[in-house]
Amino acid sequence: TQSKMRLTVNGKTCDVDAAPDTALLYVLRNDLALNGPKYGCGLGECGACAVLIDGVAARSCVIPIEGCVGRDIVTLEGLGSREHPDPVQQAFISEQAAQCGYCLNGMIITIRALLNRSARPSEAEVMEALRHHLCRCGAHIEIKRAAMRAAG
Ligand code: FES
Repeated sequence: TQSKMRLTVNGKTCDVDAAPDTALLYVLRNDLALNGPKYGCGLGECGACAVLIDGVAARSCVIPIEGCVGRDIVTLEGLGSREHPDPVQQAFISEQAAQCGYCLNGMIITIRALLNRSARPSEAEVMEALRHHLCRCGAHIEIKRAAMRAAG
């Protein structure tokens, strides 16, 4: 059954009409045209769909939207703009860390979440944060460099 729900996404109020157990990822991509978060596994395992919920990285493919009402959702689009990218986005651009780019949404969101809780994370903390993100291209060296650049 469809329900009307009000979400806050990238600082804007969005009214959606969907089944309460619909995964947040589908609402973001299909209803709100926010294509930063990617569909990878749909099982909460690859990290491609990550978004920030109240500043913490979350896997939107396994989060029902009813649990997102009243919370602050930020997608890759909400981190920064083309003119003013978030420092994490800028680090990934500077290090040319994308190969196909599919996984980068999750990597960037996760590093942003790490920096939200720890301003100067260690290399071990960065690697731990990225441990459960899959990159099938094998662009890991550049991703690590970008993440470390963002970590200052
Ligand atoms: Fe959500 Fe893989 S698509 S974790």
